[in-house]
Amino acid sequence: GGADDLAGRRIVISAGGTREAIDPVRFIGNHSSGKQGYALARTAAARGADVTLIAANVSLPDPAGVDVIPVTSAAELAETVQERRVGADAVVMAAAVADFRPSSSVGSKIKKSGGEPDPIELTENPDILADLVRTRAERAPGQTIVGFAAETDDVVSNGRTKLERKGCDLLVVNQVGRGRAFGTDDNQAVILGIDGSATEVPRGPKEDLADQVWDLVSGRFHG
Ligand code: C5P
Repeated sequence: GGADDLAGRRIVISAGGTREAIDPVRFIGNHSSGKQGYALARTAAARGADVTLIAANVSLPDPAGVDVIPVTSAAELAETVQERRVGADAVVMAAAVADFRPSSSVGSKIKKSGGEPDPIELTENPDILADLVRTRAERAPGQTIVGFAAETDDVVSNGRTKLERKGCDLLVVNQVGRGRAFGTDDNQAVILGIDGSATEVPRGPKEDLADQVWDLVSGRFHG
């Protein structure tokens, strides 16, 4: 892709990891640092895109020239993504979204009672990515939708199954485990396309993986 191949394109990226409140001081969260999503935002902006970055609990500096919207929970992320996806050329869901949230968040801090602790009941969160695909024809025809997935083994076959289940155009399948991915500056992945393509990205800076994603997205825009 050329230096300005995303000029005039509106791109929405989610980054980081959601937090689901248990009580006013505790949450269920994950280890996502937001580095991959931020690398996607920086590289897209460098290639001329108009970028909205929806950041779930990320403690990284705002990328220059990018519209950053902070969110906390999966519900808040879902609402913001659905609002911002309208009119966007591409949506990339790089955020780690909690699959479950506590069924009821308690208004006051849970105390030790001396007896058996109460179990925390969970409710499944909606799948934001799948919902974007499901509502695309009606709300954003032609929009390119990209998902991320972390797999430890059988990366390509597990990734292919997930791509088909979610129905997105591209799925970036991260190889995780053994010190890979979380919080590190390097990433290793295979980018699977709905057209059957598989692009291997060797271990390297998260910017390199980001640029590979934009090459494929840009190809869809221009093809
Ligand atoms: O199914 P899995 O969680 O592995 O899929 C990961 C992809 O789905 C990521 O792109 C993530 O942002 C998205 N996702 C979502 N809503 C959820 C769970 C995951 O959009 N509730």
